[in-house]
Amino acid sequence: MQKKISVVGIGPGSEDFISPAALKKIRAAKFLVGGRRALNDFAADNQITCPITRDLDAPINFIREKILLGQVVVMVSGDPGYYSLLDLLRKNFPPESIEVVPSISAMQLAFAKISLPWHEATLLSFHGRQPARDALKFSAGKILGLLTDAEFNSATVSKILLECGWPKNSSVTICARLSYPDEKIFTTTLDAAAHAEPVRHCILIVGGYNDSRGDLK
Ligand SMILES: C[S@@+](CC[C@H](N)C(=O)[O-])C[C@H]1O[C@@H](n2cnc3c(N)ncnc32)[C@H](O)[C@@H]1O
Repeated sequence: MQKKISVVGIGPGSEDFISPAALKKIRAAKFLVGGRRALNDFAADNQITCPITRDLDAPINFIREKILLGQVVVMVSGDPGYYSLLDLLRKNFPPESIEVVPSISAMQLAFAKISLPWHEATLLSFHGRQPARDALKFSAGKILGLLTDAEFNSATVSKILLECGWPKNSSVTICARLSYPDEKIFTTTLDAAAHAEPVRHCILIVGGYNDSRGDLK
């Protein structure tokens, strides 16, 4: 039986990283919910849409009303299982009524861009939250993958990591606008990043990997 709500990932930005299953779901939707960028990119004229803005009651009410008439497709950035609206949807609707259609997460793409496996990385988010300081503590060989936001950006997060015992010359790769034409990926030290112009809404990969000369950072 068709689930009432389909939460589909749209990848980090470019259509290259949205899964064919997610795209099929979006194209077939009658009722479509998503951020303004997602609606601009994917919504068709015949679809009934609701934007996700700061007022999260509006999409929840829209879904509540429209699921009486058919399936509602909710687009979220990256992969739905990784810091998305899925948490809120599970609090408002029975989890059995929700299906999830995965796509590539920005975190996955960041690690792929530097050809680094992520199975041993500690993945944490500064997006609208702060991880426990214990989880951020330095230890030799540790690799961190961090989501950031406007306030907790490349500079503020680097300062926090220095306070958590990371050496000043630890390597940090700043991955911004992944998959977009203006994508920017560069590696510097935590000390330099802490004092440089902040990069917002990016991914930071900190420590633990070989640089181009093969030195272990
Ligand atoms: C609420 S989280 C959403 C994560 C998403 N569910 C995923 O799997 O990628 C938003 C954060 O993801 C990161 N992010 C999302 N898209 C990105 C991109 N294209 N380039 C770099 N970072 C991105 C940024 O840290 C941003 O603040």
